[in-house]
Amino acid sequence: MSVTVRVPAKVNVQLAVGGARPDGFHDLANVFLAVSLYDEVTVSPASSLTITCSGPDAGQVPLDRTNLAARAAELLAARHGLAPDVHIHIAKDIPVAGGMAGGSADGAAALLACDTLWGLRSTRAELLSICAELGSDVPFSLVGGAALGTGRGERLTELEVGGEFHWVFAVADGGLSTPAVYGEFDRLTEGLAVPAPAASPALLDALRTGDAPSLAGALANDLQPAALSLRPSLADTLQTGTSAGALAALVSGSGPTTAFLTKDEESAGSVAAALLASGTCREARVASSPTAGARVVGA
Ligand code: C5P
Repeated sequence: MSVTVRVPAKVNVQLAVGGARPDGFHDLANVFLAVSLYDEVTVSPASSLTITCSGPDAGQVPLDRTNLAARAAELLAARHGLAPDVHIHIAKDIPVAGGMAGGSADGAAALLACDTLWGLRSTRAELLSICAELGSDVPFSLVGGAALGTGRGERLTELEVGGEFHWVFAVADGGLSTPAVYGEFDRLTEGLAVPAPAASPALLDALRTGDAPSLAGALANDLQPAALSLRPSLADTLQTGTSAGALAALVSGSGPTTAFLTKDEESAGSVAAALLASGTCREARVASSPTAGARVVGA
């Protein structure tokens, strides 16, 4: 018997970052949107906890206990006095260390898959509390759709989305470490008054009405200067996509994946082709949003 869960990537349409807190984290107003790039996580009974990963970038995925999927199995098992004896297979399609919550997605997926495999029937609230323990972005991977994350990003308010948005994601060579990008944010804002993060009413309105040009005008990522400082070549990628007709471009989360909002699916195809031809990215992926969070697709 095995259980497979499909889980989406995310893009942050607004990432407002406050100053560093005493615990090292930053208060956020983080507007997440789930996008149609998916990992699939399959768990099956085994004699001990093991992980394998397949997909073109599988080599970059840690297969030890630092993988959030393994930590999810361990945390859930510990809460129920069980041994986390499962084999976890990750079919990886979300860019690795790309700012699209790929690792968080696998954590949420493994949690739901183990809960189903072990017949635990945890409540949504129980699963969300384990997700929050695993990482700031993990609760959103479970919920999907669109949501505002406050606190360090883990406290979610679900948001209404009135239409479908089309995106291109330009995948860069190599990843960026999230702590390193936050560290660079701290360096760049040292001595400055960093305002308390707040969700933009114009952006929430654009999501509610499903209006792509309005959303394009409201996209904002406070981590973008830090990501560009660590990876200056991303500026060329952003410029290439906007010149090719994207409504707007921004770094996805902590990067280095860059996100391009387009007016429709056809435009997404031509922006993706231009990005690939430019040589300013390794891969260009077309996707749409919103999409559902982690879901059991096979048991
Ligand atoms: O919560 P998560 O483990 O995903 O966070 C990874 C790292 O990103 C943290 O160790 C911290 O350096 C940084 N972070 C932050 N403020 C947040 C979320 C993450 O500084 N709100």
